[in-house]
Amino acid sequence: MASNRKIMVLPGDGIGTEIMKANMRVMDWLAKHRSLGFDMQEGFVGGAAYDAHGTPLTDETLADSIASDAVLFGAVGGPAYDDLPFELKPERGLLALRKEMDLFANLRPAIVFPSLVEASTLKPNVVSGLDIMILRELCGGSYFAEPRGIDDLGDGSRKGYDTNAYTTPEIERIGRVGMDLARKRGGKLTSVEKSNVMHSGILWREVMTALHAAEGDGVELGHMYADNCAMQLVRNPKQFDVIVTDNLFGDLLSDCAAMLTGSLGMLPSASLGAPDPETGLPKAMYEPVHGSAPDIAGKGIANPLAQFMSFAMMLRYSFDQGAEADLLEAAVDKALQSNRTGDIMTPGCTETGTEGMTDAVLDAMDRLAR
Ligand code: IPM
Ligand code: MG
Repeated sequence: MASNRKIMVLPGDGIGTEIMKANMRVMDWLAKHRSLGFDMQEGFVGGAAYDAHGTPLTDETLADSIASDAVLFGAVGGPAYDDLPFELKPERGLLALRKEMDLFANLRPAIVFPSLVEASTLKPNVVSGLDIMILRELCGGSYFAEPRGIDDLGDGSRKGYDTNAYTTPEIERIGRVGMDLARKRGGKLTSVEKSNVMHSGILWREVMTALHAAEGDGVELGHMYADNCAMQLVRNPKQFDVIVTDNLFGDLLSDCAAMLTGSLGMLPSASLGAPDPETGLPKAMYEPVHGSAPDIAGKGIANPLAQFMSFAMMLRYSFDQGAEADLLEAAVDKALQSNRTGDIMTPGCTETGTEGMTDAVLDAMDRLAR
């Protein structure tokens, strides 16, 4: 179906290809029942791109991704690529996309569905009703800042190092997104760093404080050290609304938040750039937070729900299709009432695979759309 919604589909490796195939069925449903079409192009990324082209991301795939309205991403990586040189590893493809598209704002919502309260390893009263947003800076800090490398020290030993650096504008632009998000949610923003130890953390706290004083109307800003935040996330996660933090802390804290929801298989994400001056739409990529899960790849048992919810975020943030996003999320909730993939299995529910879970979601969409 021709449309002006251009999306680049990058399934990647491992379960990425399986859950993306499942996502296509959701897209077919929307085309059929909502006349919602997409101009779709598919490409290789990660190990799949290395196998086909000898690099985890070709210039062409990058250019097509930049030219698209949104990228839908699966997952990358696998043991077959463990011994590749650093620059050829599957993860480099993902990191290059984030950096080259300047997708600096990574939204990782952690929501506990009522039906999944029992699947969390935490006590039900700690997680039930949880709805928090981790906002991770995605283009700076120790993932990208220079200098970085492994040097020969000439005495038979080597030195490996990375730099955690943030500039004022880098902190301000992610801080603004954090305040916007907080305003649309519960009004509370927690800025997380290690200003007790790191210079980048001292500047981070100063800039956040100044930004909040200048532009923070309607937002309550708090500060927390990253180690304390990790502890508070498992102690009392409902104290948080939006957490804004740097690239590395965001990587760690979002995995932690994911487990509050029962499974890493449940967490979607959106990575957004600055809004385009003409269209107002940001460059964007949507991906589940879980990886390629090589241990279960090819078995048809992967949980496709984080992919579906990433797609729902795409509908909402890139295409202003909030009603369809709501419908898909409601269908996921409904499907979860009796269907479970292995990662979120609870006694009394029916264990199913990728296809069965997709059937259940589509069935719920049919019923909810009536
Ligand atoms: C994530 C992942 C990536 C990261 C890996 C695959 C490079 O863990 O998106 O959280 O470290 O950012
Ligand atoms: Mg991670």
